[in-house]
Amino acid sequence: MIIGSRDASRAQGIADEIGFGVVGQSNEDCATESDVVIVAVPWDGHAQLLQGLVAQLVGKVVVDCVNPLGFDKQGAFALPVPEGSAAQQAAAILTRSRVVGAFHHISAVLLLDPDVTSIDTDVLVVGDDREATDLVQALASQIDGMRGIYAGRLRNCGQIETFTANLISINRRYKAHSGIRVTDVN
Ligand SMILES: NC(=O)c1ccc[n+]([C@@H]2O[C@H](COP(=O)([O-])OP(=O)(O)OC[C@H]3O[C@@H](n4cnc5c(N)ncnc54)[C@H](OP(=O)(O)O)[C@@H]3O)[C@@H](O)[C@H]2O)c1
Repeated sequence: MIIGSRDASRAQGIADEIGFGVVGQSNEDCATESDVVIVAVPWDGHAQLLQGLVAQLVGKVVVDCVNPLGFDKQGAFALPVPEGSAAQQAAAILTRSRVVGAFHHISAVLLLDPDVTSIDTDVLVVGDDREATDLVQALASQIDGMRGIYAGRLRNCGQIETFTANLISINRRYKAHSGIRVTDVN
């Protein structure tokens, strides 16, 4: 596994902290060497980052988990996105990649906590490429407690991204790392 960064040495430092053979590289090298790339950067850097990686990401499965949110005294709120969602913006920029939306609601705090051995949540996976969404669902299901659930085409990613604002409100009120479960799906 490779962690990408705008600064390769920063990525290597984080990779060393994580261990398990993870390596750190520049975003460009990470994109070049990976078959599946997860985009996890703040919304305001999203378009610019992807515009710089178009060539490296040709043919790759690109998993976008970016939530275009603003924050003020009342909490988190959805920002308008001309393309409809961050994932659709990614698809508009990366026209020769296989863009999937997933992991929008998964807490980084839980993922990083070595004492958390299972995460009780579903992962909504959206995209227009069946093979790619199947792959990302399988990836999500590798994490103990999680299931990857297909949740529609990429054009339906906007409400998944904006729903994160509601989860953040829930987390603040209940001091939780909330997730969602889809019922009646085995
Ligand atoms: N945190 C969560 O629990 C969580 C859960 C689900 C989804 N998300 C989504 O994932 C994205 C990242 O969230 P985060 O909490 O990980 O944010 P973050 O820690 O602020 O950013 C992650 C990394 O993005 C890089 N970055 C920052 N600004 C950038 C820019 N302008 N252009 C390119 N790269 C930039 C930085 O790495 P370098 O400086 O090393 O390049 C930074 O370490 C957000 O869109 C968020 O909505 C977060």
